[in-house]
Amino acid sequence: MDAEVFARRRAAFLSRIGMDSAAVLAAAPTRRRSRDVAYPYRQDSDFYYLTGFPEPDAVAVFVPGRKKGEFVLFCREYDPQKALWEGRHAGLKGARKQYGADEAYSIEELDKMMPELLADRRRLHCGLGRDGEFDRRLLGWIDEVKKRSRAGVRAPEELVDFDRVLHEMRLIKGPEELAAMRRAAEISARAHERAMRVCRPGMYEYQIEAEIVHEFMRQGARSPAYPSIVASGDNACVLHYTANDSCLKDGDLILIDAGAEYDCYAADITRTFPVNGRFSPPQRALYELVLEAQLAAIDKVKPGNHWNEPHEAAVRVLTKGLIRLGLLDGRLSRLIKKEAYKDFYMHRTGHWLGMDVHDVGDYKVDGQWRELQPGMVLTVEPGLYIGKGNKNVSKRWRGIGIRIEDDVLVTETGCEVLTAAVPKTIAEIEALMETARENL
Ligand code: GLY
Ligand code: MN
Ligand code: MN
Repeated sequence: MDAEVFARRRAAFLSRIGMDSAAVLAAAPTRRRSRDVAYPYRQDSDFYYLTGFPEPDAVAVFVPGRKKGEFVLFCREYDPQKALWEGRHAGLKGARKQYGADEAYSIEELDKMMPELLADRRRLHCGLGRDGEFDRRLLGWIDEVKKRSRAGVRAPEELVDFDRVLHEMRLIKGPEELAAMRRAAEISARAHERAMRVCRPGMYEYQIEAEIVHEFMRQGARSPAYPSIVASGDNACVLHYTANDSCLKDGDLILIDAGAEYDCYAADITRTFPVNGRFSPPQRALYELVLEAQLAAIDKVKPGNHWNEPHEAAVRVLTKGLIRLGLLDGRLSRLIKKEAYKDFYMHRTGHWLGMDVHDVGDYKVDGQWRELQPGMVLTVEPGLYIGKGNKNVSKRWRGIGIRIEDDVLVTETGCEVLTAAVPKTIAEIEALMETARENL
């Protein structure tokens, strides 16, 4: 993303927090796996949104109206030894030239400089609760400012969570963000299609995962946006299954929940299809029902509708269908009221999507479900899960887990499904898998 995009975001953020405020954002810390081996690094989304700065050991401070500069970046000084072992890093000069900091200081100077930067700012926007150690330092800086009160200096008296301003900005996606999300969606769609093509009984779930990740990287996404779920048979009933180590059985379904991260933006797609390419009658009946629920939910994604409408639509269709199939017994309105569907559908129908897969943004405003607005992106992902140990239902339904998930942008007139390129109807899936088998 261009430096100019980040500059525009900073200008908007500075004007929204106002002259009597400051904001402090810390880069994500590195996490050690063992000795001198680290886990792959991913920048903190809030920090990246405003700075575009990809390195750890950095703190960004925003001080609206400050004469010497409103954007101060603390980071690692350039070190040729570090460059030799670990590679590129911007250094203080790069922080100013490449990343647009008005002033840049060594991260070692942070404790010394912060009390001065926070002086006479009434409100401090920060991300309390993410990192206890950083929180303690932050409170220490405020305490330092307080010590100067006899000199007439005032310390921040209000700590404001990023939810209030920064996350409201992140919730409405701009054109560059949508371009990145479209790309993430496109890449992920291709990966799911690839999985459908290569899937055969006898393969292992992690081999399908490898095909997915291979396609992500081939198409220019450096990593998945979250650990891929590749769950066959009964494993699909474990909602956060990531072991991905079972052998694919002829006759089972396979549920794949996987999305690429592109330029720090996520896609989040789930498809469920038969390992052998043909749905059995019970699989078909449940799949048709989940699909009907998903389409009904997507239909409710439009400006002015509230956040919960897609979920309510999905619940209604699923409950009705479960009665029809004999899996629930009773009156529709009563079963919905007592949440009987939760035996088979225990999660909600979606979440905000953006830089984080479960993205920021409030779901309620003043106690009411939030109205959908153009530029919001959410997932729509109903499912049905009937574990093999569920003795309350006839045997034919057991060991089946199905979820269908797409990423949906709210537009001026309704919505756009960003992930529409992946086959979704039974006919489309079976046709694709049939062709793939013929071409073997
Ligand atoms: N992949 C995580 C989710 O669907 O919410
Ligand atoms: Mn999701
Ligand atoms: Mn998902």
